[in-house]
Amino acid sequence: MPGAPWRWSRPATTQTDKPALRCLATDKGIDVIDLTGKTALVTAAGQGIGRASALALAAAGARVIATDINADALSPLTEHGIETRVLDVLDADAISECMAQVGAVDILFNCAGVVHGGTIMEASDDDLDFAYALNVKAMVRMCRAVLPAMINKGDGAIVNMASVASSTKGVPNRFVYGTTKAAVVGMTKALAADHVAQGIRCNCICPGTVETPSLKERLSAQGDYEATRSAFVARQPIGRIGTAEEIADLVVYLAGATYTTGQAINIDGGWTI
Ligand SMILES: NC(=O)c1ccc[n+]([C@@H]2O[C@H](COP(=O)([O-])OP(=O)(O)OC[C@H]3O[C@@H](n4cnc5c(N)ncnc54)[C@H](O)[C@@H]3O)[C@@H](O)[C@H]2O)c1
Repeated sequence: MPGAPWRWSRPATTQTDKPALRCLATDKGIDVIDLTGKTALVTAAGQGIGRASALALAAAGARVIATDINADALSPLTEHGIETRVLDVLDADAISECMAQVGAVDILFNCAGVVHGGTIMEASDDDLDFAYALNVKAMVRMCRAVLPAMINKGDGAIVNMASVASSTKGVPNRFVYGTTKAAVVGMTKALAADHVAQGIRCNCICPGTVETPSLKERLSAQGDYEATRSAFVARQPIGRIGTAEEIADLVVYLAGATYTTGQAINIDGGWTI
């Protein structure tokens, strides 16, 4: 529908109220991404990037199943026509049970993850095990759970949440985080290579710093909130911290982009220029 207004308006954000740009070139001109008829499952959708992405995928027409460990955080999403389910992605049995009840999904956004702060000298084996379990192993289990139905259908899109703190960039005091998010980049490429011929696309997103509830907690934990915040802003050449909705734009794009697979996409306000 060339010339049509944006299909939907983006949810209110903290730093920008620009309309979302979600468009694809088609033989009829420029069209918005339309995920009508697709089922999308999002992990860690209770707040932050996962929540914004669940809303964006639903606005793009998908049936969305928003999951999180926190039932209270999920419940407002039902007002937007989004189905919600409590799911702890660390629990392999819960993943199996969830997928048995949900059935086939066309789009998986693996968003759940944890940030550990510190150098190698401040990282215990327990810290490493926990981050590996949540940032890597849980994602692998989620992929394994959705893949059979995607392969059967010959179509599916998996979007994994990595970070620029990964194989992309060494970030001070993010040893465990960078190690595990680098594994997400590797896992994404390996899965994409194995299943590209079966119609599966698998990409990952590498954000810089994004305004979310957990970022606020990390800033507060440093003691001087404003000074830490200013330092985080200063490392983004674009001059501000990103919004969850800006990352959600990329999730929707990758859910619908039919010629992109095995990629780690930086979305970082110019941090890695
Ligand atoms: N915020 C940033 O600056 C930033 C930057 C790069 C990458 N990321 C990544 O984006 C993802 C989301 O981060 P965020 O800051 O938007 O979210 P957040 O940390 O603010 O929220 C995380 C959500 O995950 C849920 N959760 C925690 N443990 C869970 C579990 N075991 N199973 C299911 N859900 C669980 C929480 O209940 C919460 O709703 C993470 O993987 C993070 O590493 C964030």
